[in-house]
Amino acid sequence: MDRRNIVLTGFMGTGKTSVGHALAKLLGRKLIDMDTWIAAREGQTVAEIFAERGEADFRELERALILELVASENLVIATGGGALVNPENRAAFSDAQIICLDASVDEILARLNGANDRPLLQGDKETRIQELLDARRDAYNAIAMHVNTNQRTPQEIAQEIVNRLEMREILVETPHGAYPIFLGRCLLDHVGEFLRDHKFAARCAVVTNPTVGMLYAQRVLESLRAQNFSPTLIEIPDGEQYKTLDAVRDLYDQFIAAKLERRSPIFALGGGVIGDTVGFAAATYLRGVPFVQIPTTLLAMVDSSIGGKVAVDHPSGKNLIGAFKFPVCVIADLSVLETLPLEEFRAGMAEVIKHGVIGDAGLFEQIRETGKQGDRETGKQGDRETGKQGSREVSGELLERALRVKIEIVERDPFEENVRAHLNLGHTFGQAIEKLAEYKMRHGYAVAMGVCVAARLAANISLCDATTRDEIISLFEEFELPTHIPQEFSAEQILDAMGTDKKIQDGKLRLILPREVGCVVIMNDVRRGAMLKALAESY
Ligand SMILES: NC(=O)c1ccc[n+]([C@@H]2O[C@H](COP(=O)([O-])OP(=O)(O)OC[C@H]3O[C@@H](n4cnc5c(N)ncnc54)[C@H](O)[C@@H]3O)[C@@H](O)[C@H]2O)c1
Ligand SMILES: [Zn+2]
Repeated sequence: MDRRNIVLTGFMGTGKTSVGHALAKLLGRKLIDMDTWIAAREGQTVAEIFAERGEADFRELERALILELVASENLVIATGGGALVNPENRAAFSDAQIICLDASVDEILARLNGANDRPLLQGDKETRIQELLDARRDAYNAIAMHVNTNQRTPQEIAQEIVNRLEMREILVETPHGAYPIFLGRCLLDHVGEFLRDHKFAARCAVVTNPTVGMLYAQRVLESLRAQNFSPTLIEIPDGEQYKTLDAVRDLYDQFIAAKLERRSPIFALGGGVIGDTVGFAAATYLRGVPFVQIPTTLLAMVDSSIGGKVAVDHPSGKNLIGAFKFPVCVIADLSVLETLPLEEFRAGMAEVIKHGVIGDAGLFEQIRETGKQGDRETGKQGDRETGKQGSREVSGELLERALRVKIEIVERDPFEENVRAHLNLGHTFGQAIEKLAEYKMRHGYAVAMGVCVAARLAANISLCDATTRDEIISLFEEFELPTHIPQEFSAEQILDAMGTDKKIQDGKLRLILPREVGCVVIMNDVRRGAMLKALAESY
């Protein structure tokens, strides 16, 4: 987190001081509680200043303190409830991160019950609170970030603030305009807020599968309802075998039953299978409706949810029926990775490593460090005592770096006409292996094998050196990903599944091969013999 001051404001009784303490503790920062400071300096309580010198005098003192505080950094500042009602004071804090704490009138009343030191609450408390809230509504609404404090402890609220401040927003440019990827923790509770500025219809649909739905659908639905959406929950069965036109037809039926219209957003909550299927349905229903990706696997976060490719499978091949459909936004909540099965996490790491090999040697190094740290924390096979099966931790920083490799490529080539082919590193061999395995093998595992074959091939033809090859292979090993092909699929069968002979004849066989970590090239004149040799070395 950067060193900008964090300013907590909001109505009296919303917990600015107690949340301020919790937040300062969590971040190891100093807390400045403005009212306490003013009282200490003046030798009078705030109530006394109001009574003896009047509100205007107090506001002067407040203003002077704000101008003093903006010269410092790394502070948590809890303001008085009225401090930022003055737009000049809000402007003075323009470099700070301002958060407005909210609470219901009932909650405020309960918290202030018995407090007689509030100069602005003379008379019937409830009426006064309502009047003051109405008077300050516009000022509070001018603050972008709000956190609801009802029925929550200061520690919980402080943690949410940290999550919100740490959220990354990454823009992806497309020929149809840019869309943001929101990357952070606990974002599922804010899905509705991310759409606040869009003029979408209230009727919308959240599509998921039973596995993910049971874990996360309610949070998404509640966050949508809180923003006045009327969501319908739709489930399709879990598994690649349901990434079909039949599933899409079923979705159309349910969209129609839910009376979804042209401006109804559709949310895909799940891994790549959900994102691809629901994206295709959203691209075609009513000639296209707004589509939001909420990826819940590492693979979907780092790969399938960005770039705009959506598709379903056909009996004769994967992803044969598809479209380009750019999302309104992608909401990637890292906390959901905690429930992801370890094998799925590893499968996602295969694509992360692939991104390092394609375009970022620094990322590759960082993954290596993450792997070593994971080993230290939990041991390769997991920690028997804690039951923790190996770490599923991946930092927002690492994920952003991996995303940027793909973003940079898809921005240059949105419709896959040239450099986007780089993303297929390991996929030509990998997809052939997946096909022979009748798609019962995880995609990421096949990609790991495919990248290793590509690395061996590149070293054999002296495109890269042996050290590069070995570094690539050992990083997949570090994450317990397969680096060898199952014996049951022969090299000849794999070349067949790649359609090699026909493609060589037509001059269309293109392989993506590493030159060094962080740089790949497209090769279209690799000989059949060289491929056979690299495959033979891969068992
Ligand atoms: N569109 C693209 O550009 C693109 C790119 C790469 C891959 N893909 C596609 O993505 C698909 C693979 O995606 P995937 O690897 O995410 O598989 P997946 O969608 O099948 O998810 C894997 C499993 O994890 C479960 N799951 C998902 N999130 C979970 C969570 N947070 N906690 C617990 N369980 C969870 C799912 O229910 C499923 O059983 C393939 O169909 C592939 O073709 C598309
Ligand atoms: Zn892939």
